Amino acid sequence: MQIVMIGDKIVPAEDVDPVYLDRGTFFGDGVYEVIRSYDGRIFALEEHLQRFANSLSAIGIAGVDIDQVRRRLLRAFDAAGIADAKVYFHVTRGSAPRDRVCTADMQPNFFLTVSKVADNSENRTNGIAVSTHPDWRWKRCDIKSLNLLANVLASTAAAKKSCAEAILVDEAGLITEGAGSAFFAVRGQTLQTAPLTANILPSITREFTLKAGRNVGLEIVEESLTKEQAARADELLIASTTQDIVPVVRFDDKVVADGKPGKYAKLLNREFRSFTV
Ligand code: PDD
Repeated sequence: MQIVMIGDKIVPAEDVDPVYLDRGTFFGDGVYEVIRSYDGRIFALEEHLQRFANSLSAIGIAGVDIDQVRRRLLRAFDAAGIADAKVYFHVTRGSAPRDRVCTADMQPNFFLTVSKVADNSENRTNGIAVSTHPDWRWKRCDIKSLNLLANVLASTAAAKKSCAEAILVDEAGLITEGAGSAFFAVRGQTLQTAPLTANILPSITREFTLKAGRNVGLEIVEESLTKEQAARADELLIASTTQDIVPVVRFDDKVVADGKPGKYAKLLNREFRSFTV
């Protein structure tokens, strides 16, 4: 590598800021997490750190000290002083001239942001529309990888249809999850969601939603749904760290039940909120 061009500026290769040589930019070679706080208290920190450690290990990034990550994010969270904050933290394998092959000596880069969680109470009260999209992702969606291109394209296609989330459907016609959320159906007295496989992220909110479901008397069924089953469900929900549990009232061109959030959406949200205090 002799020359680097950043926008219109030509920079000698030896002077280039390593940030431009980040393997996250070249290859999406890294992993990330997001945690949130409720009224100044961080929720499910250890669960997120454990998943982060799992993601790092799954792609062979060694040498990241999780205790140091915890200290950094607590320091940044305190410095930001935001009561309802979301903290995104990312580790890439490091900065190096472009080469697909990675080596063990690469020094991981760490990047973290703290911002206010968007108020989505209107969505939680009124429900959202979602649209389905083919699941174009890779075969290790259990890793919270920086590679979100398929998610970006699906989310953007949904937004163009005025839908708040894209629901991903695999080649067998089964719903995996939302582009940025776990997906659930209430059918009778059951709360149904896809099983934990390499095809979905082991969502932290999913675990708490299932716990909430048990607490409100629903039977948990971990089986994938087809689009047709979802469209006929009594209630549909999405759940994620940044949104909690959100009722879905329109699924593609179908109105879900009577088009209003159902009783379990309210019960599950109330139960879920009780875990966060
Ligand atoms: N996304 N599935 C996918 C593909 C996700 O990106 C997310 C979360 C979830 C829900 O996971 P959790 O409950 O652990 O947040 C499921 C977050 C909000 C994000 O990456 O921005």
